[in-house]
Amino acid sequence: LDTIRATLAGGPLAGKHLVVTSGPTHEPIDPVRYIANRASGRQGHAIAAALAALGARVTLVSGPVTQPDPPGVTVARVETARQMLDAVRAALPADAAVFAAAVADWHVVNAGDRKLKKDASGRAPALEFLETPDILATVAQMAEGRPRLVVGFAAETGKAIEHGQGKLARKGCDMIVANDVSVDKMGGEVNRVHIITQKDVESWDRMDKGAVAEKLAQRIADALA
Ligand code: C5P
Repeated sequence: LDTIRATLAGGPLAGKHLVVTSGPTHEPIDPVRYIANRASGRQGHAIAAALAALGARVTLVSGPVTQPDPPGVTVARVETARQMLDAVRAALPADAAVFAAAVADWHVVNAGDRKLKKDASGRAPALEFLETPDILATVAQMAEGRPRLVVGFAAETGKAIEHGQGKLARKGCDMIVANDVSVDKMGGEVNRVHIITQKDVESWDRMDKGAVAEKLAQRIADALA
């Protein structure tokens, strides 16, 4: 273990703090029901592990997943988008932040504090939605204490590069990792990603999510060097 520690201490990210979000969020409808998505947390957790393996101190803010906690990483578990933003704020300052979570876009404003019941009318309840905070955009546009490198993800069904470039500009982040989830299904084992920056677009071969994580961690280390 001492050799491992010594190696990590000499890693390219030694002395750096990185914040990573991962997994889906759950937005309650009532105490027993929620709205979720198909994110598994595989990619985000693999990124947290890969960054830690390069010597970084890593805080992983994770929605509900079945992935094990990556070794050597501090994990904050949350359910909703609003809780995720709070946990990210609490984890800052950081040298870099990687937002790999599939955050819900809306939460239910009129969520019940009791279980919704069917009644004799046959009518379904009307759910009312409000946008959740955009965690990536919030952090990327912080006036003070913005991490030096802010990385976002764009899971698209078609035109991944185009949508990714739009997202880079709109959200104000430094890098977007775009992938087409109509080709490699969301929650799966492999990913074909495009690394989008102001400068250029780099398309990586299809590889498993662990390999994407390692390559991305190396890329982040280079950017922070
Ligand atoms: O706009 P869209 O949800 O496709 O953007 C994806 C990127 O934005 C991901 O990096 C995701 O983690 C981040 N995001 C966020 N908070 C939201 C929505 C998206 O951090 N409410």
